[in-house]
Amino acid sequence: MTAKIIDGNKIAQQIRGEVAGEVAALKAKGIEPGLVVVLVGEDPASVVYVRNKEKACQEVGIKTTTTRLPATASEAEVLQIVKKLNEDPHVHGILVQLPLPKQVDENKVLNAISPRKDVDGFHPVNVGKLLVGEADFMPCTPAGIQQLLIRSGNDPNGRHVVVCGRSNIVGKPVAAILVQKQPGANATVTICHTGTKDMAAITRLADILVVASGRPNTVTAEMVKPGVVVIDVGVNRIEDASKKSGFRLVGDVDFEGVSQKASYITPVPGGVGPMTIAMLLANTVKAARLAAEK
Ligand code: GUN
Repeated sequence: MTAKIIDGNKIAQQIRGEVAGEVAALKAKGIEPGLVVVLVGEDPASVVYVRNKEKACQEVGIKTTTTRLPATASEAEVLQIVKKLNEDPHVHGILVQLPLPKQVDENKVLNAISPRKDVDGFHPVNVGKLLVGEADFMPCTPAGIQQLLIRSGNDPNGRHVVVCGRSNIVGKPVAAILVQKQPGANATVTICHTGTKDMAAITRLADILVVASGRPNTVTAEMVKPGVVVIDVGVNRIEDASKKSGFRLVGDVDFEGVSQKASYITPVPGGVGPMTIAMLLANTVKAARLAAEK
C-alpha cells in the first residue's frame, strides 16, 4: 500500500475561507475581530511563527497587532501587558508566543490571560472545559488534527487512536478531544510516552496514529499495521548538505517507510503545521462572537 497524502495546506485554506466569511458577517454587524500577539525576545522560530500569524490574520480580515518586548523583559512587565489586553474591549484574542525567556514563569502568564480571550486554549479553565466536553477554545494544533481527520474522510468515531507524546500543547489535549462522545470524536484513545515499556506493541494496534514525540523516527514501518492513518505533528531540523540552507525539515515519523504501509499520512512540512494557524483564526472569530453575545 502507498499512502494517500493528507494535504494540510489545502484543508487549512478551506478553513481560512470559512473564517473569512464569518469575519465579513461580524464586520457587517460592526464587530471587527482583533487578535494581539505578545512576543518576548527574538527566538528565530517564534519570529517566523508570529510573522505567519500576522499574515494569515490580515488575509481573512482579522485586525492584528504584535506587542514586542525585549528578551530581558521582567515577568511583571509581561503580566502588566496581559492585564491591559484583558481590559481592552477591542482585543478579542490574546496569544503569548511560547517559549518565554527563563525569568518569566510561563504558567503564571498563561493563567493571567482572561479565559474568554485565550485563543490558544491553554488556560486551566479552558483545559478543564475541554475535558468535560464543553470547550470554548480548543488548543489550535489538536483542533487542527481533528479537522484533518474529519475532512480527509477519516472520522475517528469508533476507531482506536494511539497518541505518542503527552505534552500539554498536543498529546494530552488531542487525546481529550478525540475521546469525547461528540461528532468527529468518540474514539478509543491510548497515550504512549517516554515511560511506555513496549511502544511498538501499542502503536501496532492503532487505526489512527498521532505522533507528537518531538523526535525523528519515533515511528518506523515495523511499528504500524497496514492501513493505519498517520498524523505526524513533528517538526525537526536535520542536517542536509544537499540543501542550500544546510538543513531540511522532517517529522517524528519515518515517512519513507511508514507511507508504504499506511492508508493516509500527513507530510512534513504541509500537514499539521498550516492547520495550527487556521484554527487560531477560527478561535479568534469565536472569541469575538462570544464577546458580542455576552
Ligand atoms: N509556540 C509554539 N507553538 C505555539 C502555540 O501553539 N501557541 C503559542 N502561544 N506559542 C507557541
